[in-house]
Amino acid sequence: MGLTIRRIGPDFVAEVAGLDLTKEISPTDVAALEAGMDTFAVLVFRNQPLTDEQQIVFSRNFGAMENARGGNVTKPSDMRLPAGMNDVSNLGKDGKPLARDSRQRLFNLGNLLWHSDSSFRAIPAKYSLLSARTVNRKGGNTEFADMRAAYDALDDESKAEVADLICEHSLMYSRGSLGFTEYTDEEKQLFKPVRQQLVRVHPVTSRKSLYLSSHAGTIVGRPTPEARILLRDLNEHATASRFVHVHKWQLHDLVMWDNRQTMHRGRRYDETQPRDVRRTTVAGDAPTVAQEAAE
Ligand code: OGA
Ligand code: MN
Repeated sequence: MGLTIRRIGPDFVAEVAGLDLTKEISPTDVAALEAGMDTFAVLVFRNQPLTDEQQIVFSRNFGAMENARGGNVTKPSDMRLPAGMNDVSNLGKDGKPLARDSRQRLFNLGNLLWHSDSSFRAIPAKYSLLSARTVNRKGGNTEFADMRAAYDALDDESKAEVADLICEHSLMYSRGSLGFTEYTDEEKQLFKPVRQQLVRVHPVTSRKSLYLSSHAGTIVGRPTPEARILLRDLNEHATASRFVHVHKWQLHDLVMWDNRQTMHRGRRYDETQPRDVRRTTVAGDAPTVAQEAAE
């Protein structure tokens, strides 16, 4: 059977069938998947039991892999997964759930806030691909919100207000909102805020989207409390249930999303039991606004 892409959400999210991601994907199919991402922003693949290596090879069809450095507080000696994979599980190197007071765990709880991956990097991520290796019994859904539909639904006055705004994003803002505020000097350096446009234009479809994320903590030229109130209002608007799709994980699902057009968040689950989800991230190709930190 050939590749099919069938919409499953009201305005976004589609399920892909007819592909075995453990095998090499033809250039025609890669192009169809890219086009599917441009339209649907989230693609769901069922029954794809991938190794880490296979997940990396599949991800590379869509661009260079993002360097995972600077995205967490896990010490290199505590890393469970090969370089290039983001560990989104609740597991330590010993394969067991992290202790309740584990600094790594508390930092990673930030994934339960609405965000766009790597919006804290000067060149933020293009796609993320998340593979379910062990599914938790209860909870642990991942929710996606369509930032194009959220932008389109703003009234003209709000569109004019946000049009040229630039936000500053940092992991210290998202974690700070959870009361996680202690960092080493090295982490402070790694997590220095970067600037992002609040409204992005998709490079292929030219659709506008709200580039929101829990990492956004200030707006250039505005007092911080005023900026945060506006960002809270926009987030509340953009994550209303009519813009949201809930993904309920099955073993060996792979879900791929466009960080330029969506936000996502994890939901709480029974952390005494393993939830092993592993992410590869495709790097973006340009900053959203010119800045010093852009490599
Ligand atoms: C991620 C992420 C949420 C989840 O992989 O980037 O935020 O449900 N995941 O695990
Ligand atoms: Mn994420």
